[in-house]
Amino acid sequence: MLTSVLKIGFVVAALTVSANAASAQTSPSGEALFRQRCGSCHTVQGTQNRMGPALQGVVGRKAGTAPGYNYSPALREWGRTWTVANLELYLAAPRTAVPGTKMSIVAPSPAQRAEIIRYLQTQR
Ligand code: HEC
Repeated sequence: MLTSVLKIGFVVAALTVSANAASAQTSPSGEALFRQRCGSCHTVQGTQNRMGPALQGVVGRKAGTAPGYNYSPALREWGRTWTVANLELYLAAPRTAVPGTKMSIVAPSPAQRAEIIRYLQTQR
């Protein structure tokens, strides 16, 4: 019993170390998380919209303004800019942050949200 607890603790520690090692580089873990959790609906390539709007340059951009994307009225009329703080609120609970938005996906882990937002900041 005690040894299995210790083993689990060791595995968690090992995973934490490797995650830190990964983010010390040019944040491949944020990129990997974006691909996994956002990439089916969003690109960071220019104005290429998918089911969701293109997210290149989204940090500092006014919400609801990606060219050619058909936003919900809620997001189009929200009127705010995507700061890190607003992205954090939206990714934690999109429909609480922007009632009526058609994005329902959440990124439940605060650490993963931070990684994804850091990655988006590099996609200018
Ligand atoms: C199942 C598809 C889907 C996934 C997965 C998804 N989104 Fe979205 N996203 C959307 C849709 C649809 C919209 C448009 C919402 C609206 O118009 O109300 C949107 C809008 C956004 C916006 C607002 C952009 C703007 O131009 O105002 C941001 C930021 C965003 N998503 C970030 C993310 C991030 C980061 C992830 C990954 C954690 C993610 N989304 C995952 C579908 C998705």
